[in-house]
Amino acid sequence: MRDFYPEDMAIRNHLFDSWRQASAHHGFEPYDAPVVETLDLLKRKSGEEIVHQIYAFKDKSGRDLALRPEMTPTLARMIAARQGALSFPIKWYTIAQCFRYERMTRGRKREHYQWNLDIIGEPSVSAEVEVIATAVQGLRLAGLQDGDYFVRYSSRRLLAELLDTLGIPPDLHAATFLALDKKDKTDDIGAQLVGESFTDAQWASVEKILNLESLDEAGELLPDDSESLAQLRQFTQSLSHYGLENIVRFDISVVRGLAYYTGIVFEAFDAKGEFRAIFGGGRYDDLLRDVGGKPETGVGLGFGDVVVCELLEALGRTGAGHTRVDVAVGYMSDAQRPAAMRIARELRNNPSAVDLALSSEKPKQFFSRVGGGHYKEAIYLGPDDVDSGKARMKDLETREEREINIP
Ligand code: HAM
Repeated sequence: MRDFYPEDMAIRNHLFDSWRQASAHHGFEPYDAPVVETLDLLKRKSGEEIVHQIYAFKDKSGRDLALRPEMTPTLARMIAARQGALSFPIKWYTIAQCFRYERMTRGRKREHYQWNLDIIGEPSVSAEVEVIATAVQGLRLAGLQDGDYFVRYSSRRLLAELLDTLGIPPDLHAATFLALDKKDKTDDIGAQLVGESFTDAQWASVEKILNLESLDEAGELLPDDSESLAQLRQFTQSLSHYGLENIVRFDISVVRGLAYYTGIVFEAFDAKGEFRAIFGGGRYDDLLRDVGGKPETGVGLGFGDVVVCELLEALGRTGAGHTRVDVAVGYMSDAQRPAAMRIARELRNNPSAVDLALSSEKPKQFFSRVGGGHYKEAIYLGPDDVDSGKARMKDLETREEREINIP
């Protein structure tokens, strides 16, 4: 689990501000929920891999509970509970603290914050483009530039159609998805699939699919009336209207590890391919029905705080150091403290962020303490200032001074 010291909080707050601003700019509304869920909901709805990573416990009355590893089952539960009263489509976002008992590696921790963007009740690809555009703005506001990262997408429906066309029976599709998801982590998925009852010919077909480099190449294998292909073409057209065509790219190997995705899936990676996924998401059209609600389509993504911060750091773009305070107020002896308190009160009502010294300091001590870039301006009171009713506000960068009245 993670401790956040003030310098870590400055970075985290900057990231959260970027996420909130991008959400608001795209018309997403905030929501929240408890970090504890019933184990049953999480077990039923999280992906195969996540189920093994859940922190579970019994409460004092013996109920099986758990810390959420992701937000999507909770969102589905909340929507199902109010389905009759909500008007769809809805666009919601949250920043959720999530816990997964993972092997700790670069980009993966046992606790992370995850920005979730979801659109429920929009069957067209407008939903996919909108969530991706929002995440891209979040990345830009956080400090990344276009070219630092790419979003790769594919479609589980397209993949299923391709597998059908090449004669892979439906009961082998799930194993194929799982193997493709592990492609970068497993040396030889061919051997793995053949071990799982694939014939050599079937593996050769999967390999052929894996070598597809564009939507057009995939199209050559599919019938003209392929629905998933038509949808993906609409998706790419929308991407270019949003100006995202150079950021979002087709990649047949993207399948995502979670079981509930049904259509387009996508993941963002740094351009050099050195880090884990920055964010990932997709369409999940059956989830509402699966948690007991009426069927309703869904599209969303999860964007963790860990990888993006590692990437910003590697590229030297973290920006924020400490949270800046507008004014530091200090004084030579206790006799000036009442005047210092009144100045601080007036400035805080202004409103400015003011750090009022808790005790008196010598001028040298005060100016060396506040001179490290943490404060923009400083006021130091001595007996003469209080007598004259005037104090000097010093700009700590330009060294210029201006006079203010002591209230
Ligand atoms: P996910 O791919 O499991 O999807 O996680 C989404 C993102 O959360 C990852 O791309 C990564 O940024 C971050 N993340 C996940 N696990 C960790 C970890 N252990 N440490 C640090 N960061 C992590 C989901 O969770 C889906 N529920 C996303 C979603 C929302 N799909 C639809 N709506």
